Parts: sequence; C-alpha cells; structure tokens
Amino acid sequence: MDNIANKKILLIISGGISAYKSLEIIRLLKKHGATVKCILTKSAKEFVTPLSVTSLSQEKVYDDLFSHESESKMDHISLSRWCDLILVAPATANTISKLSTGSSNDLASTVILASNKSIFLAPAMNVRMWEHPSTKENLQKLKNFGYQVIGPEIGDMACGEYGEGKMTEPLNTINYLNEYFQNIKKNKKFKALVTAGPTHEYIDPVRYISNKSSGKQGYEIAKSLNKNGFQTTLISGPTNLDKILGVNLISVNSAEEMFNATLENLPADVAIFSAAVADYKVKNKEKEKIKKGENIDLSLEKNIDILSHISNHNSLRPKIVIGFAAETNNLDKNSKIKLSEKNCDWIIANDVSDSSIGFNSDFNEVSIFYNNMKKEKLPKMEKSLLADKIVKKVISQLN
Ligand code: CTP
Repeated sequence: MDNIANKKILLIISGGISAYKSLEIIRLLKKHGATVKCILTKSAKEFVTPLSVTSLSQEKVYDDLFSHESESKMDHISLSRWCDLILVAPATANTISKLSTGSSNDLASTVILASNKSIFLAPAMNVRMWEHPSTKENLQKLKNFGYQVIGPEIGDMACGEYGEGKMTEPLNTINYLNEYFQNIKKNKKFKALVTAGPTHEYIDPVRYISNKSSGKQGYEIAKSLNKNGFQTTLISGPTNLDKILGVNLISVNSAEEMFNATLENLPADVAIFSAAVADYKVKNKEKEKIKKGENIDLSLEKNIDILSHISNHNSLRPKIVIGFAAETNNLDKNSKIKLSEKNCDWIIANDVSDSSIGFNSDFNEVSIFYNNMKKEKLPKMEKSLLADKIVKKVISQLN
C-alpha cells in the first residue's frame, strides 16, 4: 500500500446503506498515510453522521453547497483542486444518474463537475436497480468520460435479496487505488499517441467519402492509456463519441489533417494507429456545392499512409508502433504483409465482414501479429477489455 502514502483523497459519501463501509475506507486510507477529506450528501447523513466521519478523518466534513462560510472559500473549486483523486463510495443509483447528466445541485455533484482529477465510483444498490437499463446507460456514459468503476460485487444484500450490487469491500477498493497510483508513478513519463475514427475526404463543401469506422476501439485504447498514467493524445476523425477527461483530444476531418496533427504531436513512446484512414482523397475538390446534372466522374488520388510514414521514419518513430488491419478475407496473409511493409511492432487484425464485431460494435475479436512472427488469437470481448489488454502489453514492453 506504499503508493497511498501522502496522497490526498476526496471521499464523497452518498446515501446508501453501504455508507457504513465508507467509514472503514477512511480508516484504511488514514492508516496507509493518506489525507482524507469527505463530502456527505444530504441523504448520506441519514446513514452515517458527520461526527463519525470527522472523528475518523480528523478533517472538517463538507456537506452544504450554499453555506456562507464554505462559499467564501469556494469549496466546490478548491476541494476539487486540492485532491489527487475523487472517490465516490457508495455511488448510489441516484448519484450515478445525477452525475451522468452533469447535474450540480449540491456540493458533491458540483465538485465532480468542476473537477480536473480522476474520478472513481464504487456503486452500491439493489440488484434490480443495478441491472436496470437506465443505470447501465448512465454508468456507460460516465465510463465514456473516463470515470473508473470499482465493482460492485455479487452477494447477499442489506435488503435481503441476492445479486450484483454490493459495494466492493473497503480493502479491495484501497488496493485498486493503490494500483492506480502505482501505475501513474510508473507510466507518467510515457507519451502515447492514438489515431481513431474514420476520415472524411470532401468532394465539395457538403459531400464526402468515408467509411464505417465508429472510433470506439481507439477511444477505448486512449481511455485505458490515460487511466494507466500515460500522457495521452488522441487524434480523432469525426465520431459521435464523448471527449475523455484527461486525454488531449485533437479533432480532424481528413487524412491530411490527421497526418499533420500526428507530426505535430510526436515524439511519443508509443503510437497506436487505429484510425480507418481513407486511402484516397478527391483530386479536385470543388469549392462550391456541385449541382445535380449528368453523371460525374470523380478523380481520386492516394492519401499519405500515416502509419507507414511514421514507422519508417528514422527520427520520428516511437519505440512501439502498433497498426490495425481491417480485413474481410485472407486475414493472416494480409496482416503479415502490413506488419512488414508498414514496419510495425504489432498489427492488431480484425475481420470486419462479421458485423457483431469490429466497426460500430462494442465488441471486437482480434489476432495480434508480432514482429517476431508470433501470432496471438484473442477471444471475442468488449472493446474496453481489449484496450486494457493491449495497454498492459504495451506497459510490459516499455518497462
Ligand atoms: N493507415 C494510415 N494511413 C493510411 C491508411 C492506413 O495510417 N492512409 C493505417 C491504419 O490506421 C491502420 C493500418 O494503416 O493502422 C492499416 O489500415 P488498413 O485500412 O487496414 O489498410 P490499408 O493500408 O489502408 O490497406 P487496404 O485498405 O488495402 O487493406
């Protein structure tokens, strides 16, 4: 637990029966050398008293957004700047719902909205509430912003039912935070660059050529790099995905813009080229909207291959260069050709002919081809999990 020592933790306790476990979280954090300040929501005070919290934390307890004393010191800003991270434990269904809409009608939600720090949620609720599609959707939204979720666990609940929704045990929560601080310490010196999404190659001001890429896999990789402590830049073509807190997002349209943004953001220790860059651009892009007439011929010219350019560059090449291969046939053969022609350390290949994986899906099934000619086939899994696996491999290679 060495990594907890001297850290500043802001613990937000929301109103659920598991709030009693939050007292143990405070005790353990203090035992391992952290400073802990706590915010209690209005309903949390029905479950634990400010007196217990202040006695254990040895700090003032914060609870009211509109007190003269607190607001003269701008608590909602100063608390979010003071801490190294924010832990919401328990995070009730109501708190998760409020946070997912950006609500800020009390100190807890305002501090989170104003925060520039990593946010961890330890959900706790009845199994039916946990399984409700609205809770799932709200939590997914928060995950997309880069919030990290600890648990919940499966077991007997205070309400007498059994299932998933129990707040993770305090010791496991502390272990999770300890590992987070350890990763930050180990990886904060590393710079990562990720390209994601499709590119739009304009024909005229309103029409373009593009492809089906959603950008999801690249965004998940950027999210995972960020939570593992990397200084992460994400160069993204047009997508519908949320901005990830803590990641430097550069939005581009065309392959040419993506190439320029990539050059501007090197050097990096690792570059992961997950974008589905359009291979061609329109040769003579019209300045005005083309009027409907007879058939037209579009003349296309090749775009620069960003991955190839960088990985074959003497001075710009990052230590680890990872490319993707989207294939509908001859996956092994084509991936191996890309691995060698594009001078990559690994190629992550997926079969995009199956619509349950790859483009637009939340799932992916890939094979990784390494430059030592080894191949690793991974089972179908969520893109977020695959991202974590890829980042874990990157970390072990860099260290
Ligand atoms: N790539 C790139 N710049 C391009 C084209 C591709 O950086 N102009 C990168 C992609 O980000 C990916 C890898 O090259 O990491 C392979 O992309 P893919 O579309 O599978 O292959 P292509 O090289 O475009 O070849 P083809 O379309 O013929 O399969």
